[in-house]
Amino acid sequence: MASVETFPELPLFDLQLQPQDLEAVAETLRSGWLTLGPRTAEFERVFAEHLGAKHAIAVSSCTAALHLAYLAAGVGPGDEVIVPAFTFAATATAALYCGATPVFAEIVSRAAPYLDPGDVERRITPRTKAVCVVHYAGYAAEADRMKELCDRHGLALIEDVAHAPSATLHGRKLGTWGLAGCFSFFSNKVLSVGEGGLLCTDSDEVAAQVRSQRSHCMTSGTWDRHSGRTDTYDVIGLGYNYRLDEPRSALLLSRMGRLEQEIERRRELTLRYRSLLSLLDGIIVPFSDEEVHTSSAYVIPIMIEQDGRQAEVSSAMRERGIQTSIFYPSIHLFSAYRERFPDVSLPVTELASRTELTLPFYPHMSHDDQDRVVTVLAEALQR
Ligand SMILES: Cc1ncc(COP(=O)(O)O)c(C=O)c1O
Repeated sequence: MASVETFPELPLFDLQLQPQDLEAVAETLRSGWLTLGPRTAEFERVFAEHLGAKHAIAVSSCTAALHLAYLAAGVGPGDEVIVPAFTFAATATAALYCGATPVFAEIVSRAAPYLDPGDVERRITPRTKAVCVVHYAGYAAEADRMKELCDRHGLALIEDVAHAPSATLHGRKLGTWGLAGCFSFFSNKVLSVGEGGLLCTDSDEVAAQVRSQRSHCMTSGTWDRHSGRTDTYDVIGLGYNYRLDEPRSALLLSRMGRLEQEIERRRELTLRYRSLLSLLDGIIVPFSDEEVHTSSAYVIPIMIEQDGRQAEVSSAMRERGIQTSIFYPSIHLFSAYRERFPDVSLPVTELASRTELTLPFYPHMSHDDQDRVVTVLAEALQR
């Protein structure tokens, strides 16, 4: 078993690959074909079937998927895309790639830290083209209400499903509610392979555009030429190099076989964490036990009730060998965003960012380690 070496005694995240994963990658390296090819096509087929989506298109990252999703929604210069600020920067940055303006909307609350449909509706203008809903921490945001709202206003719904492969809302996979769903296979994600992403859609038109744009809008790929299908190509639009390579696709295919099992283990451990955390005073634990069962249980976020204690609690935990992180700092308060959008104020989001801490969590975490995290957190809170 290969395990990543990390500095803190109890890291936020740890990855364990299995011998068959390593063999799948080695076999691909021996095959002599390393980029977009048969393994990627097979992974796309398996992932689309898993989601119940018509198309799944593998790309180099979720950021790339978001960029192509916004383009597919017709987002361009002068347009607006409504996004949460309580997410990773990529959700908003991809709108800037299109020359559009990200418009930040509030989250519902610290206990339900996802996009508030009422606030989204208030921020719609004639320039709004799309709304991007983020399924924070692997839990379903209100994609159903957001879909209804987008349909009513003629907007495209994009889902940032970076945290939530395999999670559902009303029995339907997250990522399949809108025009496109964008997944991440970045190194600390539920299905991680280092770097990688995927866009799913039920639209043939969107799928054709995304397939073309991920590889420079070339009329044939290198694999087609390698396999003798064609010996030339044309470039018919503005495309990108957003291709996923074959070793990562082989690793994804190998890991896919254990995805449900690993998520089930994550859910069990999450419920155990939640019952321990419910005994502590002074914290809010977002979401409910019930929501855990349909989530991908990606991370364990907590919010310290009292404002102003985040740095002190996190450094007390670090002193005891436990890594925590802030998941997420508000995007609109980052320097590059402040310069562009100095007047944005989102009190609920900002309070969440100032009080959130993410605890160590991974599917092979032991009960002893969970107990230790909660004991140290309790002591840090009481200081
Ligand atoms: C919510 C969210 N969206 C988008 C991304 C970007 O993913 P990637 O690193 O695959 O581009 C991330 C990754 O950290 C994320 O957490």
